[in-house]
Amino acid sequence: MTAIQIEKVKPRIGGIVHVTKQDLLDDDVITAVREALEDRGVLVFPRMHLNDAEQLAFTDKLGKRVNFTRTVQDGGATDDADVYAVTLDKKLNFQPEYVLGTFFWHIDGVTIDQPLPKATLLTARKLSPAGGQTEFASTYAAYDSLPDDEKKAYAGLKVVHKFEAALRPVFDEVAEDDLARWRGMTNPMTHPLVWTHKSGRKSLVIGTHADSVVGVPIPHDRSLLIRLQEWAAQPDFSYRHEWQEGDFVIWDNCGCMHRVVPYDEESGRKMHRTSIMGEERVA
Ligand SMILES: [Fe+2]
Repeated sequence: MTAIQIEKVKPRIGGIVHVTKQDLLDDDVITAVREALEDRGVLVFPRMHLNDAEQLAFTDKLGKRVNFTRTVQDGGATDDADVYAVTLDKKLNFQPEYVLGTFFWHIDGVTIDQPLPKATLLTARKLSPAGGQTEFASTYAAYDSLPDDEKKAYAGLKVVHKFEAALRPVFDEVAEDDLARWRGMTNPMTHPLVWTHKSGRKSLVIGTHADSVVGVPIPHDRSLLIRLQEWAAQPDFSYRHEWQEGDFVIWDNCGCMHRVVPYDEESGRKMHRTSIMGEERVA
């Protein structure tokens, strides 16, 4: 029997990985995980109960670690600078608006001027009694399944992504100094709507951070961007993970968008996140 078995969840997205903790760092396992990640989009390792050192060891085997939010905010500190605690717990996170923005579809790191993080890895440390499921939608499947006339219409379109757009649903009004702070930490990024990866596969680059389409008037552009989010989120292309404590989930941040089902700020829900540096720019 091989050290790893990967069970498909749906034809277009999701894999459950069966592997023991002691086999996790085997070269064959790492190779299989890397291949499955791009094919499946999301991989679930049920109840692995990794500590930070174990999660970082796996992260380092899989790629080059990066903490892409280090420049974005001060909250979310853990004992290790490369492990970020995703939580609304006010003792650990002094800038919860960033985490509240994750209630909406997004791709990690889009408004930072560097290649998109290749993968994000999460261990469930503490769950909320209600909500807190994480949802993933394949932006590869979303593109592949578009009718030909839409594929043709979207070729060449460019989208401006802004951090403040990702936070727009979080606030009724934003104070000038908050806006100035966010603008100082992030970069508006202009990306093609359709990303042609070096592999030849194509995906949509969408999410709440997608603020406008170059040359398309408001609100026609925002309507299109929201429709594409809805398209990508249809059940055939998406997967909702019902967490159990200790679950370890990793996803292809270049081929999926994700969001969390709202949970109570007082619940203490806490996820430990690591990330892998991307290898290619959106093009
Ligand atoms: Fe995220």
